[in-house]
This record gives sequence, structure tokens and C-alpha cells, in this order.
Amino acid sequence: MTAGRKTMTAIVQDEYGPAPEDVLRIDEIDTPAIEADEVLVRVHATSVDRGTWHVMAGLPYPIRLAGFGLWRPKYRNPGRNLAGTVEAVGSSVTGFKPGDAVFGIGEASFAEYARARPDRLAPKPANLSFDQAAAVPISALTALQAVRDHGQVQAGRRVLIVGASGGVGTFAIQIAKSFGGEVTGVCSAAKVDAVRALGADHVIDYSSDDFADGEHRYDVILDIGGNRRLAHLRRALTPRGRLVIVGGETDGRWLGGVDRQFRALLLSPFVGQKLGTFVASENTEDLMVLRGLIDSGRLAPAIDRSYPLSEVAAAIRYMLDGHTRGKLVVTV
Ligand SMILES: NC(=O)c1ccc[n+]([C@@H]2O[C@H](COP(=O)([O-])OP(=O)(O)OC[C@H]3O[C@@H](n4cnc5c(N)ncnc54)[C@H](OP(=O)(O)O)[C@@H]3O)[C@@H](O)[C@H]2O)c1
Repeated sequence: MTAGRKTMTAIVQDEYGPAPEDVLRIDEIDTPAIEADEVLVRVHATSVDRGTWHVMAGLPYPIRLAGFGLWRPKYRNPGRNLAGTVEAVGSSVTGFKPGDAVFGIGEASFAEYARARPDRLAPKPANLSFDQAAAVPISALTALQAVRDHGQVQAGRRVLIVGASGGVGTFAIQIAKSFGGEVTGVCSAAKVDAVRALGADHVIDYSSDDFADGEHRYDVILDIGGNRRLAHLRRALTPRGRLVIVGGETDGRWLGGVDRQFRALLLSPFVGQKLGTFVASENTEDLMVLRGLIDSGRLAPAIDRSYPLSEVAAAIRYMLDGHTRGKLVVTV
């Protein structure tokens, strides 16, 4: 174990709670120590997503069982995305060395330094700044796996993305387009232009139009926001189409919307449509796939705003208020 030698500025959280202003503070704490199989990253930028709130709030409760701490947060803060420079590597780490520019997923990344597992890091795309690279990891991995693995999008497939204006959705539009899909994005009126600008072929404003009006059917539906009933989603799906439930926010403290996902999984074997859900896998291989898409100009993060480290709570509040178009970045 490498001892932490100096202090650093970091966001600190001692208790779970739903209001970022109440539970997050900025403080001077010890730089983390790393194990033999870990990397210490000097964080240049990080980002906020819906998962940040769930980890901060400890809600729905099952997230606490998923390793984030049963009664109080296990990690010093809920940051996970990061882009930065390798500061040190543990004795058994082979793929990275001090000075490497990386992006990926670490622990407590709202800080000057964060621990990370090497199998959740990749070399930073050369054509992205650290701020841009920090916007990518969790949201884009989720979008990639939804489009490629679960939606199995191919050239000519009609793809409906419900929740196209958010963190996952803005990546999903571009990735589905790069796989040759004909993409329809669903979002609120204020974000229609942003969704079209990212390459969506058609955009539906959910406040005035119903995507399940019977006029159009889609081969693949990525359900990222809005918690539509299963019957509603299935009405918009072709008879052998694929529904991929990515997420959707509810107030449920225990189930948090996963009851809808369980129902989809239970029903799927008995109908022609494939109804599924998944938890995104965080891995270097897929970060490299994203890097390839970014390097080739087919994928770029849509960044709404950047905040300084001291304003992480304000960034989370902005997201909770539903203002975000794409991603919110935190510069460290
Ligand atoms: N399965 C996984 O492994 C995984 C991984 C990452 C995230 N997620 C989940 O995926 C969801 C989205 O995450 P995110 O980071 O993309 O969140 P986000 O940036 O806050 O985006 C939320 C999206 O939902 C849309 N939305 C809200 N109300 C809607 C409605 N009534 N109808 C249609 N769309 C609506 C929003 O559109 P407007 O703003 O235009 O209203 C926005 O596009 C969250 O529930 C998150 O927990 C799951």
C-alpha cells in the first residue's frame, strides 16, 4: 500500500441526503493511498450525472447494497467520472505509468486526486480536452452498450430515443447514427434544437406529441427518461422490435422504477418483442471503442456547462432542476 503523503482539496460527504447543498462541502483532506493494483490519478476534470445523485442520496436503497455504503457513504464524495494524469501506479499495474493522460471511472473523483482501477481507465482521446473527456465515461458507456449490445442497432433500423437531450441520450443519438440507424429523438420543447443539432433525423417534443400515436413504429426503442408505461412503449415498437430500458427517475425509495424493468424481463419471453434492461459495464475495452469513435470524429460530448470544484452542489442542483442539455463538467 502506498501511503498518502500530502493533502488535497476535495468535496466531502459524511452522510447520505437528497439535497446536494446540505450534504456536500469542500475541504482539505489526505490524498488517497492506493493499493498494488490501483492507479492514482491527478484529476483535471470530472462530471455530474444522474448516478451522482443516486450515490450521494443513497437512493434507491439497493444502491447502498451495491457497494456504496449501507448506513453512510463509503467514499469521500459521489464523483466517479474522471479525466486527468496518472500520478502514481501500484506495484502490480502494468498498463499505465506516471504522466499518462487518461479518462475513465474512479472513486471519489470530486477531488484533486482519485484512486482508480486500471481496468476502468483508458488513454484520453487526443482530440478532447480534459473537460471534454471527463464528460464521456459513464454516460457514453451506457449509450454504447444500449445501442450496440442491447438495441443491436444496424444500418437502416428505425431507432427511437426517449430522453435524447440528457447525458446518456446525447451520446446515444450520435452512436446510433454512427451504426447507421435512422434516429428519432424525444425530448422537451426547449431542447428540440439541441437534439436535432446532434444528428437526430426526427425530433418529437413530448409535451405536444405522442411517439406512440400509431403512425410510426420503431425497430429499437431506448427508454432513457420519462417512465412511460410498458404498454405505451410496446405500442410504438415493431412486432419483433427491441425495447431497451436504460433508466428513468422516480421517487421510489425501494425500487426506484426497477419494478417496470422486472415486468419487462418477465413479459419478454412470452411476446415477439424483446423487452430488456441492463446495468452498464465499466471497462477499458468499451472506453477504447468510445475513444475510436471520438478520434474518428463520429462522437463528441455535448457539454452544457462547466463548474469549478467548489460548485459541485450547484451542478447537481442544475441537473435535478431539469435544465441540462447533455453533460455538466466540473473542472478541478
Ligand atoms: N442502466 C444503466 O446502467 C444506467 C447508466 C446511466 C444512467 N442510467 C439512468 O438513465 C437515466 C438517464 O440518465 P442521464 O444521465 O441521461 O439523465 P439526464 O441527463 O438528467 O437526462 C434525463 C433525460 O430524460 C428526459 N426526460 C425527462 N422527462 C421526460 C419525459 N416525460 N419524457 C421523455 N423524456 C423525459 C430528459 O429530457 P428533457 O430534459 O428534454 O425533459 C432528459 O433527456 C437515469 O434514470 C439514470 O439513472 C442508467
